[in-house]
Amino acid sequence: MSEQDEKPGRKKLSLTAKTEAAGHKRKPARWSPLQRDRSQAPAKPAEPVERAEEARPRTRPAGPAKARTKGEAAPRRQADGGRPAPGPDTSAGRAAPRRRATPKAPVQLKLFVPCPRGLEAELAAELGGLGAAEAQAGSGGVHCQGDVALAWRINLWSRLAIRVLQEVATGDYRSEDDLYRAAVRLPWSDWFGVDKTIAVRTVAHASPLKSLNFVTLRIKDAVVDRFRQDLGERPSVDAREPQVPILAYLDRERFSLYLDLSGEPLNRRGYRVEPAPAPLNENLAAGLLRLSGWTPDTPLLDPMMGGGTILLEAAMMALDMAPGLKRHFAFEHLASFDKVEWTRLRKDAEAARKEARPLPIYGCDIDPRMIRAAGLNLKAAGLLDCVTLREGDVTEIPAPAEHGLIVSNPPYGVRLDSDAGFYKGLGDALKRHFSGWAAWLISSDAEFPKHIGLAASRRVPLYNGPLECRLYEYRLVAGTMRKKAP
Ligand SMILES: C[S@@+](CC[C@H](N)C(=O)[O-])C[C@H]1O[C@@H](n2cnc3c(N)ncnc32)[C@H](O)[C@@H]1O
Repeated sequence: MSEQDEKPGRKKLSLTAKTEAAGHKRKPARWSPLQRDRSQAPAKPAEPVERAEEARPRTRPAGPAKARTKGEAAPRRQADGGRPAPGPDTSAGRAAPRRRATPKAPVQLKLFVPCPRGLEAELAAELGGLGAAEAQAGSGGVHCQGDVALAWRINLWSRLAIRVLQEVATGDYRSEDDLYRAAVRLPWSDWFGVDKTIAVRTVAHASPLKSLNFVTLRIKDAVVDRFRQDLGERPSVDAREPQVPILAYLDRERFSLYLDLSGEPLNRRGYRVEPAPAPLNENLAAGLLRLSGWTPDTPLLDPMMGGGTILLEAAMMALDMAPGLKRHFAFEHLASFDKVEWTRLRKDAEAARKEARPLPIYGCDIDPRMIRAAGLNLKAAGLLDCVTLREGDVTEIPAPAEHGLIVSNPPYGVRLDSDAGFYKGLGDALKRHFSGWAAWLISSDAEFPKHIGLAASRRVPLYNGPLECRLYEYRLVAGTMRKKAP
């Protein structure tokens, strides 16, 4: 973060310290509640994700679909092909006598839920816990099945998922025309109204087709042409903030088409108000905590916390805070959306949330601007009082408790050729000050395990976006940790 990131009008923290460890003023070696709130800036409200539909004029649903009058509910449909779904009548303020419908099994959707690579097995377990049937870890995500309410629950509750995709077609292809024909066959207007904006995104792996832009265009044409056939009108494209994002995935021979039920990636929880350099994705941070086996009663420390992502995810887990409560989702624009049912799920999530209280979660960073950034992010999430923050050098701070877990991603490449010295100092400090603890450290630097001088008891391959990393577990038992010289 540069000095320009300091917002005018905020009371500034001392910026005499530099980001280089050597340039920092040492702070007293203690953990005190006074160090809890170092965020000097006024509280900013958490950013609610703007609903895309508010950003553009609405067009009237047209064509054969009869225009609805105010208060008249749209027929509720399911995402499999538009048949009305059983369930409560959601029309506003009318108590019309209702005929008892023959109960029907809810339609099972085929879902693919991507996650950071390396977390597939953890995600499959998480989705199983949310009620997904047959959660199968694949490459880069998990395949599962469930009804539309499961898809909403995953969006609301999953800490590891990047998004939730509903598969609507899959098959072989050779040309862009094959993809057009597959897409034009689908009943798009059963799934969303012509007043919704769309965008198609294509992701390909080893596809023989030359231009992904052309693929995207052909699939978009198919959606639009099918709408024109069915309703005499077409939806508009909004490439930046589509209400209904459509994803095409191509491998060498096969394609899959998905409705993206999430919209913005799920790691955008809505609490990150202050940027920090090299932040971890929220879903990867949550994944590190799951892999480490951390439970909320165990003291947790991130001694190089940056913007505090790991601490925030931990506090949200400890308080059973649903990560999706502060945002909106693309599925809210689909015909299958049932506001009453969704409100019930959200209310359940709000009720499950435990009240904020001090937790044995500790954060530290050598850069005072990071204390402020983490403080602001925690404040935006309503979690500032749950976590103890302090400024300090990881090689000097004492342990905040007798035993516990360190989960952290140490800086990499900041000191260029002196990273090796930093890693060695880190290993020495962990051994000196943290015996009885375990440390889970993620790094993309292949040199890291060589220089830290500790024997890893586990190495888990993971990806931080496109960056290949390893998560190393070090059990810090006094006297037994030093790596033997070769
Ligand atoms: C890769 S960033 C951590 C990002 C963080 N996980 C997040 O999601 O925002 C590494 C952090 O280590 C901090 N750092 C560097 N040297 C340090 C030291 N000697 N002691 C404590 N923190 C240090 C940096 O200021 C930086 O914020």
